Amino acid sequence: MSTALSCPSSSDGNETLVADELVIFVNGIKFTDHNVRPQVTLLAYIRGKLKLTGSKLSCGEGGCGACTVMLSRYDHVDKKISHCAINACYTPVCSVHGMAITTVEGIGSTKTKLHPIQERLTKSYGLQCGFCSPGMIMSMYTLLRNNPQPTALDIEGCLKGNLCRCTGYRSILDGFKSFSAQLLGKLFDPSDYSPYDPSQEPIFPPELQTSSKFHTNTVRFIGEALDWIRPTSLEELLKLKNELPAAKLVVGNAEVGFEPRPNNIKTTLISVTHVPELNQIDITDSGITFGSSVTMSRMYDVLKKNGDVLAERRMNVFISLMDMLELTGDQQMRNVAGIGSHIMSASPLSDITPMLMAAGTTVLVGSLRDGKRSLPLDNSFFVEFRRTCLKADEVLINLTVPISKENEYFAGYKVRNQVHRRDRDVSMISAGMKVVFEDSSNVIKNINLCFGGTGPTVVMATSIMEKMQRRKWDEGLLNDVQRMLVEMLQLSTHGGFVEYRKCLLQSFFFKFYLNVQNVLSKQLTDTVLTVPAQCKSALVPVEMPPTESMQLFQDVPRSQSNDDPVGRPIMNESSLQLTTGEAIFLDDIKPEQGELHFALVTSKHANAKIILIDASEATELEGVHCFVGADDVPGKNRWNETDPNEVIFASEEVLYIGQVIGGVVADTMELARKAAKLVKIEYEVLVPILTIEEAIDQDSYLQPFRHLEEGDLKGQLAKSDHVIEGEARIGGQCHYYMESQCCIAQPKELNEMIIIVSSQDLSSTQRRVAAALSIPANKVTCKIRRVGGAFGGKITRPVHFAMTCAVAAKKTGKPTRLVVGRDLDMQIVGKRHPILARYNVGFSKTGRVRALQCAIFLNAGFGYDISIHTMIKTLIQLQDAYNIPAYALSGRACKTNMASNTVMRSPGCMQATAVMETIMDLIATTCGVPSVEVREMNMYKCGDSNYFYQEVPDIGNLTRCWNECIVKSDYHRRLEQTSYFNSTNRWKKRGVSIIPVNVFNGESLTEINQGAALVHIYLDGSVLLTHGGIEMGQGLHTKTIQIASRVLRIPSERIYINETSTDKVPNTVLTAGSTGTTLCGNAVKIACETLMERLDPFIHENPKGSWEEWVGAAYRNRISLSTTGLFKVSDDVMINWDDHPSSRTSYNHTYGAACCEVEIDCLTGDHQIRRVDIVMDVGHSINPAHDIGQIEGAFMQGYGLFVVEELRYSHKGELLTRGPGMYKIPCVSDMPRQFNVHLLEGSTCSDGIYSTKAIGEPPCLLGVSVLAAIRHAISSARSDAGLHGSFRLDCPATPERIRLACSDNFPKDSQEIAGNEDFFIQV
Ligand SMILES: Cc1cc2nc3c(=O)[nH]c(=O)nc-3n(C[C@H](O)[C@H](O)[C@H](O)COP(=O)(O)OP(=O)(O)OC[C@H]3O[C@@H](n4cnc5c(N)ncnc54)[C@H](O)[C@@H]3O)c2cc1C
Ligand code: FES
Ligand code: FES
Repeated sequence: MSTALSCPSSSDGNETLVADELVIFVNGIKFTDHNVRPQVTLLAYIRGKLKLTGSKLSCGEGGCGACTVMLSRYDHVDKKISHCAINACYTPVCSVHGMAITTVEGIGSTKTKLHPIQERLTKSYGLQCGFCSPGMIMSMYTLLRNNPQPTALDIEGCLKGNLCRCTGYRSILDGFKSFSAQLLGKLFDPSDYSPYDPSQEPIFPPELQTSSKFHTNTVRFIGEALDWIRPTSLEELLKLKNELPAAKLVVGNAEVGFEPRPNNIKTTLISVTHVPELNQIDITDSGITFGSSVTMSRMYDVLKKNGDVLAERRMNVFISLMDMLELTGDQQMRNVAGIGSHIMSASPLSDITPMLMAAGTTVLVGSLRDGKRSLPLDNSFFVEFRRTCLKADEVLINLTVPISKENEYFAGYKVRNQVHRRDRDVSMISAGMKVVFEDSSNVIKNINLCFGGTGPTVVMATSIMEKMQRRKWDEGLLNDVQRMLVEMLQLSTHGGFVEYRKCLLQSFFFKFYLNVQNVLSKQLTDTVLTVPAQCKSALVPVEMPPTESMQLFQDVPRSQSNDDPVGRPIMNESSLQLTTGEAIFLDDIKPEQGELHFALVTSKHANAKIILIDASEATELEGVHCFVGADDVPGKNRWNETDPNEVIFASEEVLYIGQVIGGVVADTMELARKAAKLVKIEYEVLVPILTIEEAIDQDSYLQPFRHLEEGDLKGQLAKSDHVIEGEARIGGQCHYYMESQCCIAQPKELNEMIIIVSSQDLSSTQRRVAAALSIPANKVTCKIRRVGGAFGGKITRPVHFAMTCAVAAKKTGKPTRLVVGRDLDMQIVGKRHPILARYNVGFSKTGRVRALQCAIFLNAGFGYDISIHTMIKTLIQLQDAYNIPAYALSGRACKTNMASNTVMRSPGCMQATAVMETIMDLIATTCGVPSVEVREMNMYKCGDSNYFYQEVPDIGNLTRCWNECIVKSDYHRRLEQTSYFNSTNRWKKRGVSIIPVNVFNGESLTEINQGAALVHIYLDGSVLLTHGGIEMGQGLHTKTIQIASRVLRIPSERIYINETSTDKVPNTVLTAGSTGTTLCGNAVKIACETLMERLDPFIHENPKGSWEEWVGAAYRNRISLSTTGLFKVSDDVMINWDDHPSSRTSYNHTYGAACCEVEIDCLTGDHQIRRVDIVMDVGHSINPAHDIGQIEGAFMQGYGLFVVEELRYSHKGELLTRGPGMYKIPCVSDMPRQFNVHLLEGSTCSDGIYSTKAIGEPPCLLGVSVLAAIRHAISSARSDAGLHGSFRLDCPATPERIRLACSDNFPKDSQEIAGNEDFFIQV
């Protein structure tokens, strides 16, 4: 192998040994690779090359933790083994040369023994789809390896870098907390757990311990596109950098790994993790020097270890740094990212650099040519966006942070969830502040104010600092600085949020001011006033009590046989496979011989004509097979019979950014994606319609419109004491399933095509793939074993991906795999519909609603999808739990140049509930009546009928949920406590809410209210169950097994479900709308009952016989042991728009109530849910563990929509918030600190299977209780600021919205900042 590089010699003058073979130990096994490609990530390596598919690829950007593995290494200087959790998706495989990796497969398996962590996650029901489970387990495993007796807080801390979209985290935490002293919940019995014995863990590979060569020898891996060199001394590094000034230095790769690399230009990366001088930490009397490559975690550990010595005062620089390090990213990132490389990444949004700058940090840099020089970390260091003043051949050697001096005060600030989640959130504004006073006075001697997020670089506000010299620390100074901060700091408008960012600048200084005043006032009692008690709440962060939970449900009757699993908490049928990494998701399927990869080419414009598609540059690359486009579709280039806009490949026009134009087929995924970027598209760009308002202005709608009107609207409005007009906006929501869209198409003989697709609707996929390929449906088989989360996003849209992939496979004749990356998935796939509601509500002075007029506008995107259905659902659900005598509701779906918005869990209902609950709060504020009374007064009562003149069934259950929720949550006492808290705190406020829900279950399309199943009994007595439903984490397979077990009277263990497939159960319906258990469960029941009827004669003949004997007897008598079951909902659910009373809007109702308490920080907009109590009517639960899991997960998803998750679009219509780094779903610290779920006892449901009710979707609506509680808290803050009455709070209620709604008396801008228009559009 030829190299372009000479290898410099090491510092001792000996010729350095060059290792060009990679050596890693994975799960104790040594792997040596002579041909490693340096650009390959550890995740791609272990999944692709080592075939260990337990670790998952979900985001590929270090943002979700699905790929977490444990890295272990031996430190030959300290003679210590260390373990840390890392994200394998951005860790270069070369960087772990000479180290050991443990994956989920390495800690336990179903074939040997489960690790206690795997077992406990299973037994605590801590998984649903299970896609996040391996990552969760590895984070926990690493914690236990380092600390076998962690506290509950340690456990929560270790999961901060792991996202779960299904569970809501409570069950995961409870399972893992069993390793601490804290045991919670009622769902499981901790005495069932196997004990954890740390001595049983695998040993560290002795070879890595005995031989230091892996770390002391320079290593060099030479690839086609990239060379990787790991020097082992500073001298060697400086020589290398002198020789290769363009080479990039790398430590954790958390920045370098995501930088675009120029095509066809070879890059060299120099890993500086093994240069001793860059890893040194020196503590002296004047400060601490950290080598540039010292990881953030090591920095934290060293500071913590020396904490007692350093922390004489709370404001000490190192204590503040430690606090900030804990808030920076997640442990996986901090375990690999260097503190020097953090500075050198020159990010304007850094959390730490402003603090280092404020502290007066100096850095030492060096080069072979110019030697070493020391530089202050100030404004001269950061030259421009992402660029420092270092010369090309210079390296950062170390940084020295001076120790705090006498009379010095220091603090760093970041809002925990300013964008918008509690953890792992890069700042919008960050700050580091230091002040030194003259001896025994409050006169400023010196002050440093440094900020991130104001412009292209981190800045030191020198002009403001100068004006503060020699001034007294008093209110006059506070006001002046607050004014100067908004007037003199040139806040860039890039990135938007200008008003909020200004508020944060002022709020951070205000906090610093009070903090310093608080300490000074104790020392200078004569000169400095004490901080008023009410204002002290500004000094502390939002309270985060330890998490607690309770789950209450009705036990099965004593008379029920022990063998009958219905009604019992039974663990997920696949949980053992999911926790060991043995469960096979689509992309874990081993490739067939000759399998190719497909990558999509998508539109860059929201509305444009396509002038030219030129794929020549892409197809010239070696390993690229072809470009696939509209001309390659054998059948019609359309995939939705009713919507001409929904084409498979756009060829003439594009209607949104992300629309699929074609794709490239290549040997590898990496190559296919690279080639797809080389396809050139020329457009004639047209003006797009993007927002609801634009669509209304231009009359751009999808037909039909819908209107519901009953009662004497005019009369009731006239009778009302108040009539208020208002507007509410609810943003969209991304499904954020952890497994992105994916598909494999396998061509077989005689034109047959097998499609394996991560989908909730296989039969539609089958029909449309057949049409696209112009073959009959019997030649297409669609199947899937499990789906890694779906939430409605895998109903209609996977059809499209399957068609593109099938066309590609047809063209090449080869099996073809399409895995859509997270970024593109979020761009292409439509989301929950954003809506705008314009209402006019009339009500009495006591708060009784008399009339409601409401126009609903949905942003449907460019196509129909199910937008009309969603609009109808919104109209129906608007009544929610409330009886409104007269109403006129209208719905329109706006046609825009956005992705075609689609179903997401509780489509339409979520938006409707938010509108209705906003109106309820508005009424309460206007009338001055407690919101609980307004809600109660308007709630449906026994005998009331709904919008369709039908009596609301079992309405007593709604009242029971409500009353129980009031009692169980101790609502009234807590409301009083909240009032007291609010009256004694100015800058932290609490809010309590209680919300009822009434959800209409059923789909208004008759044909989809059916379910089918196929059941085989084999001669050994085992049963193979298949039904038309898809298992996506909701526990459908587990519940159907429970049902089959009850009917067949055999243990669940004898029943198995292997996959859902159109060749087993044909013409299935989508699995959605919480109907799976009703439809598939009943179908299974019917099939099993048929089989039992057939077995009955043999049971009667031999009553004492065994199951196997009866089965054998039937077989010998030539009785079929296989049958199908078909279930249909007895009455059609349908809406008659011409005659409302003849409609049937649902086949049952799910009721519930939630009480929520929050605390907000009025200065930053930060918030925390303190407690949630839910009472839910699920009828008779078939599996309380699963139902409680659904309730908790749904609640958190609802909370996500109403408060946390914000989709942001550019003025071009491009989705900017793609991937977990930008789009924030709730993480573990967002979980309510107390989370109690109670299933209503004694409830039945006559048309639910075994009296169970739909549960997947309804609890999402309860998330609106967080919004209402936040509104309550904000009201109190506004009232302190002298503002009374109602105010607008759109969804999501982000920290920005909360902060701006809170209001304050801080000085405002005297001049408008130029260019302060919105950076984003509200669609
Ligand atoms: C998931 C995730 C979450 C994050 N969250 C946060 C957050 O909450 N707050 C926050 O502030 N940041 C956050 N970040 C950013 C993170 O802090 C930086 O990406 C990280 O510090 C970079 O460290 P690294 O060692 O991985 O850098 P690398 O990618 O290895 O290197 C970064 C830069 O430093 C240069 N460099 C490295 N060593 C030297 C040297 N000795 N001399 C000269 N140049 C050198 C490299 O050439 C490169 O340009 C997050 C990043 C990720 C991936
Ligand atoms: S896949 Fe690695 S962090 Fe998401
Ligand atoms: S179980 Fe966590 S993402 Fe599905």
